[in-house]
Amino acid sequence: MKDFTTRDQVLAVYRRRAPHYDFSANLYRLLGFREAAYRRMAVDALRLNAGDTVVEIGCGTGLNFPLLQAKVGTNGRIIGVDLTDAMLARAAARVASMGWSNVELIQSDAASYRFPEGVNGILSTFALTLEPEYDDVIERGARALSPGGRLVILDMKLPRNWLRHLAPVLVLLVRPFAVSTEITRRHPWESVERHLRNPTFSEVYFGVGYIAAGDAPQPAR
Ligand SMILES: C[S@@+](CC[C@H](N)C(=O)[O-])C[C@H]1O[C@@H](n2cnc3c(N)ncnc32)[C@H](O)[C@@H]1O
Repeated sequence: MKDFTTRDQVLAVYRRRAPHYDFSANLYRLLGFREAAYRRMAVDALRLNAGDTVVEIGCGTGLNFPLLQAKVGTNGRIIGVDLTDAMLARAAARVASMGWSNVELIQSDAASYRFPEGVNGILSTFALTLEPEYDDVIERGARALSPGGRLVILDMKLPRNWLRHLAPVLVLLVRPFAVSTEITRRHPWESVERHLRNPTFSEVYFGVGYIAAGDAPQPAR
């Protein structure tokens, strides 16, 4: 079975997926995957305040933007970064239809994106594992956080319980979103443990999903 290991392959998948992304992502609810609740938990874990600046890596069509807006308010700022032009076009349509003027959308792969200094929060949901250089992205993100800032990742992983025996089936279920066996060997939560302070890790959906979070590292003296 073909693995989606290069950015070009991932880009091609998401260009195809973009028009129906919001609908198809929601279909996992039929399997009991409470995506909306997990998104809320991840955004809550950022502990954002009104007026804050938050960067979302792999923002896709902007499904998290309403939750982020509710936290940062009109004086805050949301920077959405994504590899795929077609996904960003959907995000731009969402921003326009909601009349938000505090959202900036940037087409970039996460590896070459340069974080602005002093952001209050960095979020990535169901995206960072698709980036081969995720460890570097998390390290640079951690350094860009202002004191008190937080980085939060919500993503899928192979469970450690009996469900791991169903790995080929689980990978098949998320294959439409460019997930492959290669990607299951990527462990962004370990990068959170390496690069951030007070890392936390909690599993959702029988260990198939997780939320990893951490605080900005101490500034170098
Ligand atoms: C499963 S979607 C998740 C979108 C959104 N975060 C959400 O939760 O609905 C994965 C997104 O990651 C983006 N992506 C994949 N690889 C990327 C990379 N290397 N850099 C930036 N974005 C990437 C894709 O274009 C896609 O929009």
